[in-house]
Parts: sequence; C-alpha cells; structure tokens
Amino acid sequence: MSDAFTNAVLAWFYEHGRHDLPWQQNPTPYRVWVSEIMLQQTQVATVIPYYQRFMTTFPTVEALAAAPEEVVLQHWAGLGYYARARNLHDAAQQVMALGGEFPDNLADLMALKGIGRSTAGAILSLAWQKRGVIMDGNVKRVLSRHFAIAGDSSSAAIQAILWQLADSHTPNQQNRAYTQAMMDLGATLCTRSKPLCLYCPVQHTCQAYRLGTPTAFPQKKPS
Ligand code: ADE
Repeated sequence: MSDAFTNAVLAWFYEHGRHDLPWQQNPTPYRVWVSEIMLQQTQVATVIPYYQRFMTTFPTVEALAAAPEEVVLQHWAGLGYYARARNLHDAAQQVMALGGEFPDNLADLMALKGIGRSTAGAILSLAWQKRGVIMDGNVKRVLSRHFAIAGDSSSAAIQAILWQLADSHTPNQQNRAYTQAMMDLGATLCTRSKPLCLYCPVQHTCQAYRLGTPTAFPQKKPS
C-alpha cells in the first residue's frame, strides 16, 4: 500500500512525535486502557501525575478490581467526569470475570464498560500491536481539516464518513506508530484554535489549508 497521507504522517512521527509518555513504556492493555480513559477529556500534562499515582496504587487490573470504589474515586479526584472512574472499576471486575486477561478483539473490548470503538481501537493498536482504528478528538480534527469535511461532525452521517476515512488511511504495518502519530499531530500541530500548518507534514494536500480556513473544520451543527 502506498498512501501518501499515511506515509507522510508516519515519517513526521518518527522525527517529531512523542515517544516518552509514561503509558508508552511497557504498553500493556491495562496501562494503555487506563491512559486512554484518563486522556478522553483531559490533557496529557494534567493526566501524567494522576496516571503515575494510579499505576502505583493499582499496578494491575487485579489490584484495581479488588480496590474499594471510594479508593478508586479518590485517585480520580480533580480529573472530573467521575463516571469514567466508576466504569473503569466495573470494567476491571469484568476483566477479572473473564480470567484476568484483556480481550484482544474489537467486539470483546467494546463489551467492557466505558470502552467505545475508539478506545478499543487504541488498545488493539497500542497494546496488542494489532490493526486498530481510532477516532478521538485529535483524529477527528486532522481528518475533518485535511479532507475539508463539511457538515455537523457529531451527526451520524459525518461520523460514518470520518470513520471510513480513518479506516482507509490506517496502515496494517506500523499501525501503532500511525495511531500515536495521529494523536500527536492533532495535539501538537493541528490544534483547535491556532494550527501550526507551517510545520505540518500533510499541509501540501490539506483541503482546509488550501481553502485558507483550517479552523472552520470540524464543523458544528448550524445554530
Ligand atoms: N490522547 C489520547 N490518547 C493519547 C495517547 N496515547 N497519547 C497522547 N495523547 C493521547
């Protein structure tokens, strides 16, 4: 497969991506899962100390499952969106009921509480080193801009288009690097309000850049 977009994103990642985040060290399904849940609504810099404390107290899915819920919630205090912590605790117990092994396929991962399609894709890709496709806020922004996707990005129709684009550009080889690359591109260059298009590896093919309006994408519901 030779996909110019994918290849440019990968080449950029090896040079400029983030390679020393705590959850990139020893990326087991448990560690990747906890990090993805924390990162859903919270920025990397905020997450790091929470993640480290969480891993010290609950080093394994077994330890998390066995902990009282209030202790799990104490470790979440300040991160907000506490349903995430309750779901994490419930899902740890679900994993223990499965024998303590994380599932290694999309459907069984998505059957765990709090794990949607994108988090399941991230676990497949980053932890299991299988082909996984993700669609978090970062990826949605990069793809919406690069392909100038018009229309309400939270609608089912546009979501379907974005997932289709995400899937078609996700490589079978180097899948983990690509997954991290798309998150990094969205977080460090293709940012919400002041994208650094000058440094972007796919600027030359970006439709939103060509239109001169990168921040007009992703589009919201007309109000
Ligand atoms: N945001 C969501 N997942 C992430 C990851 N693995 N690394 C950095 N930022 C992220």
